[in-house]
Amino acid sequence: MDSLLPLIVNFLKLYLPPMVANGTPVVVSKLIKTTPLDFGKKWKDGRRLLGDGKSIEGTISGIFAGTAVAAIIGVITGYTLVHTYTGFISSTGAVFGDVTKSFFKRRVGKERGEPLPLVDQLDFYLGATIFLLVCPACVHPTLEEYLFGLLLVPLLHISTNYLAYKVRLKKVPW
Ligand code: CTP
Ligand code: MG
Repeated sequence: MDSLLPLIVNFLKLYLPPMVANGTPVVVSKLIKTTPLDFGKKWKDGRRLLGDGKSIEGTISGIFAGTAVAAIIGVITGYTLVHTYTGFISSTGAVFGDVTKSFFKRRVGKERGEPLPLVDQLDFYLGATIFLLVCPACVHPTLEEYLFGLLLVPLLHISTNYLAYKVRLKKVPW
């Protein structure tokens, strides 16, 4: 139990920014009219490249909000620049993971919004982690922090999506 609190704190310092980056587009797309990131273009298979679930505004606002949260964490913890930079990279990775997931989801014939359990929940987490690991100047997660998130993220996803459904941000509870 002694080591659980520092684990949670360190996990949040590193992964709260990509979590915010992943959640922001859901809210932004409800507030403003958005433009699809693939501009409506289709792939060779006749299906959309990404689909209407990935927008330019959602993508940019996600990276921006995640980086802003990282900057705030940086100010609080006194490592401003390295945390802001790390948060920018992890937020970009989060959005990249989500967009890449949609690309492959369309290729296997799943429509926008159709559930793909676990992949839908972990896309941003894996994207953020990969981007952090290939960034030499970034703060890196320990194996313990990473594994903790692998368990926590799907659980958090289920509860926040249910909440978003309850307040009518989402049409389905998953
Ligand atoms: N969203 C967005 N831009 C992004 C990511 C998400 O505008 N880069 C918005 C879209 O309105 C999207 C909603 O947030 O419908 C929920 O995101 P997500 O669950 O990732 O998208 P899905 O609609 O489920 O689409 P997909 O099947 O491609 O994952
Ligand atoms: Mg979805």
